[in-house]
Amino acid sequence: MSDPNTKTPTILVIDDDAEIRYSLSRVLSSRQYAVIEAPSGEQGIALVKKGPAPDLVFLDVRMGGMSGIEALQHIRSANPKQLVVLMTAFGTAQTAIEAMKYGAFDYVMKPFDPAKVLALAENALKAHADMRAVSDYKPTINADDYREGIVGSSAVMQDVFKVIGQVTASDVTVMITGESGTGKELVARSIWKHSHRSAKPFIAVNCAAIPDNLIESELFGHEKGSFTGATGQRLGKFELCDGGSIFLDEIGDMALATQTKILRVLQQGEIQRVGGTDTIRVDVRIIAATNKDLEQMVKAKTFREDLYYRLNVVRIKMPPLRERDDDIPQIVDFCLQTLVKQKKSRVSKVSPEAMAVLVRHNWPGNVRELENVIYRSAVIAQGDAILVKDLPVEIRGAVESSAPAPALPAAVPVAEAAPEIPPPVAVPVPPTVPPAAAVAAAPALTLAAALDAAFAELAAADEPILPRLEREFIARALAAEGGDETKAAKRLGLTKAALQKRAKDA
Ligand SMILES: Nc1ncnc2c1ncn2[C@@H]1O[C@H](COP(=O)(O)OP(=O)(O)OP(=O)(O)O)[C@@H](O)[C@H]1O
Ligand SMILES: [Mg+2]
Repeated sequence: MSDPNTKTPTILVIDDDAEIRYSLSRVLSSRQYAVIEAPSGEQGIALVKKGPAPDLVFLDVRMGGMSGIEALQHIRSANPKQLVVLMTAFGTAQTAIEAMKYGAFDYVMKPFDPAKVLALAENALKAHADMRAVSDYKPTINADDYREGIVGSSAVMQDVFKVIGQVTASDVTVMITGESGTGKELVARSIWKHSHRSAKPFIAVNCAAIPDNLIESELFGHEKGSFTGATGQRLGKFELCDGGSIFLDEIGDMALATQTKILRVLQQGEIQRVGGTDTIRVDVRIIAATNKDLEQMVKAKTFREDLYYRLNVVRIKMPPLRERDDDIPQIVDFCLQTLVKQKKSRVSKVSPEAMAVLVRHNWPGNVRELENVIYRSAVIAQGDAILVKDLPVEIRGAVESSAPAPALPAAVPVAEAAPEIPPPVAVPVPPTVPPAAAVAAAPALTLAAALDAAFAELAAADEPILPRLEREFIARALAAEGGDETKAAKRLGLTKAALQKRAKDA
C-alpha cells in the first residue's frame, strides 16, 4: 500500500475476472503505480479497512458475490475520502447514476482504452493529492461574519461598512449603486438591521418587476372600486412598512408619475391610496438602489432631478467583485459555511489551486455568480473540499486547456478484445436487461477464444494476417508500456532497434 518513503501511488484493482485484473495491472504498472489486486468486493473492502488505504480503487460493478455498487458503499462509509473508479461492460444510465450517487470518482467502460485508463488514474491521483493538500485549510471568517451576513476585508468594502455605520443612527436617505449582484440589497438590509427601525419591517420593492399601472397601487395601496379589479381596499407597501425601511430596488425603472409621488413621501411624509382622498402619514425610511446611470437619466429627463437629489443624500457605490479579489476567499468560505449550516452540503474547504482559479476569474455576475458557482461545485465535490475539477467548465476553462494531454495512442490490450466478439461464456443477465450490443461487449474472454475470433476476423480481410497482427501487437505493447519502446520491445521479445524498424515498416 502507499509507502510514505517512496510515495509510489497504490492502486487497488477489485474484479472477479483474473484476466481483467491482470491486464489492468499491466496497464497501470507501466506508469510506476504499485498495483494490488482483490478478486471480490469482500476482499477489496477488507484491504481498504485494514489500511493503509490505497490511493485509488478500480472496482468492477458486476461480480459474483457482492456487487460493485454495494462494495462502493462499504468502502466509502469506511473511508469517505477513498477515491473509487467503477468499471463496467454495461453502460446503462442506471449504473452510471448509481455509481456517482454513491460517491464514485468516475466510471469507466470495458473494454478499456489504456490511454483513457491512465489519464483517469492520473486525474484521480491528482484529486487525491489535492484533497490531502487542503486538510489544513483554515476558513477566513469568524462568528461575527455570520451575524452580519456580509463579508469583505478589502479596503473598498471596509469603506462601505464604515458608511453603513455612519448612516444607521439617522433616517437619511441612502442611494446604493453598483452592478448586478454586488450586494446592494444586502447593504440596504444591513443599514436597516443596525438602525432603530430594526424591530419594524424591511420591505424590498423591485420597481423593474412591477408593471407601471400596478406600481402605485403596490406602493400606496388602493380603495375599493378605484380601478377594474380593485374589489376591496388594499394597503400599500408604505403603509405596511410604517416605522421600518422600504428598499426601492431598480429605482431607475420607475415611471415619472410614480417618481412624483415618491418625492411627496420624501418631502411631506405622506401618501394617498389610489382612488382615495385621505392623506395618510407614514414614517418610512427610504433606501434606493439602481444599476442605471441616474445622472445620465436626469440629463435625458427620464428621471426627476429633484427626486434624484432627495434620494442621493448619501451614496454607497458597490465595487464590482473583480476590483476586490482579496474578498473572494472570504466570500467563498462564507458561502460554504452557510451551506454546511443549512445542511445542504458537507464541503467546507477549497484546494489552493481551485481558490486561485476563483480569485483570478473576472466575475461579470459579481457575488451572486460566485455564490452560484460555489453552490454548484459543492454539490459536485466528492470529498470535503472543492477541487479545480469540481468548478464549472466556464470558470476553469482556461486552466484545463493548458493541462498536458495524455501522450498515448488509443489501443486495447488483447485480453480485452474488440466489442464485436461474442463472449464464449454466458453473461449473467441482470434484472434490467442491457441492450444486446452491451452484452456482446462483455470482456469475459479466454485467450484462445480471443485468438480464434481475431483469426476469423483477420482471415476475412484482404490483408495478409501476420503483418497486420504484428502492427496491432506493437501498438498494444507500446500502449501497455506507456509508450516506452525499450519495455515494449522486451515484452514482445524484440530488440528496441527491431521494434523501431518493424514499427516503421508496418
Ligand atoms: N459582501 C458579501 N458578503 C456575502 N454575501 C454577499 C456579499 N455581497 C453579496 N452577497 C450575496 O450575493 C447575492 C447578491 O447580492 P444582492 O442581492 O444584495 O445584490 P444586488 O446588488 O442587489 O444585485 P441585483 O442588482 O442583481 O439585484 C446575495 O445572495 C447576497 O447575499
Ligand atoms: Mg438587488
